[in-house]
Amino acid sequence: MYVCNCNGITETEVKEAVRSGARKWDDVHTYFDCAPCCGKCERDMADAIREADREPEPAAEPLFGAPGLAVAG
Ligand code: FES
Repeated sequence: MYVCNCNGITETEVKEAVRSGARKWDDVHTYFDCAPCCGKCERDMADAIREADREPEPAAEPLFGAPGLAVAG
């Protein structure tokens, strides 16, 4: 779902920006190299940032498989 219609920024993209350090609505726009236009998304963006802050970060995928699971042979 779009949070910012002017710039096509989705909830998923807000989460990505928050994981990269965005803390305010204009931080999110800056992260995507754009600027707020109409300002209608300020409240929804703030809500999406708060929600993203509450979610745990996704687990990193192991590069070479989980240690200790190698099959001896
Ligand atoms: S909807 Fe985000 S600036 Fe207009």
